[in-house]
Amino acid sequence: MGAIITGTGSALPARCVTNAELAERIDTSDEWIVERTGIRQRYIAGQGETTATLATEAARQALSAAGRSAADIDLIIVAKTSPDNSFPASATKVQALLGAPTCAAFDVQAVCSGFVYALSIADAMLAVGSARCALIIGAETMTRLLDWEDRTTCVLFGDGAGAVVLEANDDPARGIIASRLHADGTQAPMLYADGGVSTTQTTGMIRMAGREVFRHAVTNLAQVLTDVIADAGLNSSDIDWVVPHQANKRIIDATVKKLGLPAERVVMTVDRHANTSAASVPLALDTAVRDGRIQRGDMLALEAMGGGFTWGACLLRY
Ligand code: UT7
Repeated sequence: MGAIITGTGSALPARCVTNAELAERIDTSDEWIVERTGIRQRYIAGQGETTATLATEAARQALSAAGRSAADIDLIIVAKTSPDNSFPASATKVQALLGAPTCAAFDVQAVCSGFVYALSIADAMLAVGSARCALIIGAETMTRLLDWEDRTTCVLFGDGAGAVVLEANDDPARGIIASRLHADGTQAPMLYADGGVSTTQTTGMIRMAGREVFRHAVTNLAQVLTDVIADAGLNSSDIDWVVPHQANKRIIDATVKKLGLPAERVVMTVDRHANTSAASVPLALDTAVRDGRIQRGDMLALEAMGGGFTWGACLLRY
C-alpha cells in the first residue's frame, strides 16, 4: 500500500512584520537580512494564536481540499519544536479542536526536519495498514523561542503551520516513492535551545552557530537528495519541484546548484514566511499547490535540515 497526498492546507498568524519594522528596534537592516537570507518579512503569532491553533486551521484547510472530514482521520502527527504545553502532545490538542475520533495522535520532534520525519513515519504506518487516512502537520510558534537581543537569530524565524492529508492508495504511479532520514547528535551544540524541562525548567532560547549550520546544511541536503533520487532509480532531471526547508535562500540556491537543478524548479517562500522550522516545508508545499505551480502527477522532492542535527528528504509523485 502506498501513501498519496490528497489535500494540503496552511495557516499564518494575522500579524506580518517586515524587516524594516524589525530594524526600528534591533541593530539590523532590510539590506543585510535580504542579502544574507532572502527574508523580507515573517508572521508573528499574537495573543490566542498558538502552535495548536495554527495547526488546526491548516488541518481544516487540508481536510477540505481532500474532500474529507475530521471523522475520516485515523492518525494525527504534528511535527513541532514549540508546543503549546510540555505535554500533552500538540497532536491531541488538534484532535480535540477538530473533533476527530480517538485515533492515534502524537508529536514528532526533529526540529526543522520534523515534517519530513513525520511524513516518512506516516508512510510506513499506512504501508502496514495501521492507518488509512492521516493528518500530517508541521506547526510552529518559533518566535516564542527567540532571544530578541540576539540579532544573529531573531531576524530569521517566523510562525505558521502547514498540513497534508495522506491516504493509503495502491496506485503504484502515485505517492511517496522513497525517503531518507538522518541525525547526528554530536552536532547539537551548533543549533539548540539553551533550556528545557529536565534541565532548567524553562523553554530556553534558540542558539545557533550560523556559519557552521550553513556549511553542514548545503553538504547534508545535497547528499540526502542525491541518495533519495538514486534510491528511487531516478535522475535529478526527473524532479519537477524541489520543496525545500525555507531557512535561507543562499542555502537553497547552493543545494540545488550542487544537484544541477535550475532555480525555476524550486519552491521559494522564505522571502514571505522566513524560517518556520517544522512548518516551512508544508507551508511552501501548500503555497505552490494553491498558486497552481505544483500540479497532479508532478514529481516532488521535499528536504529539510535542522537542530540535532537532523536532516532528510522525501520523493513523491503528487
Ligand atoms: O533551520 C535551521 C537551519 N538554520 C539555518 O540554516 C541557518 C544557517 N545559517 C545562516 O543562514 C547564516 O549563517 C546566517 C543568516 C545566520 C548568517 O549569515 P552569514 O553570511 O553566515 O553571516 P555571519 O554570521 O558570518 O555574520 C556576518 C556579519 C557579522 O559581522 P562581522 O563580525 O563580520 O563584523 C555579524 O555580526 O553580519 C553581522 N550580523 C548582522 N548584521 C546585521 C549578524 N546578524 C546580523 C543582523 N543584522 N541581523
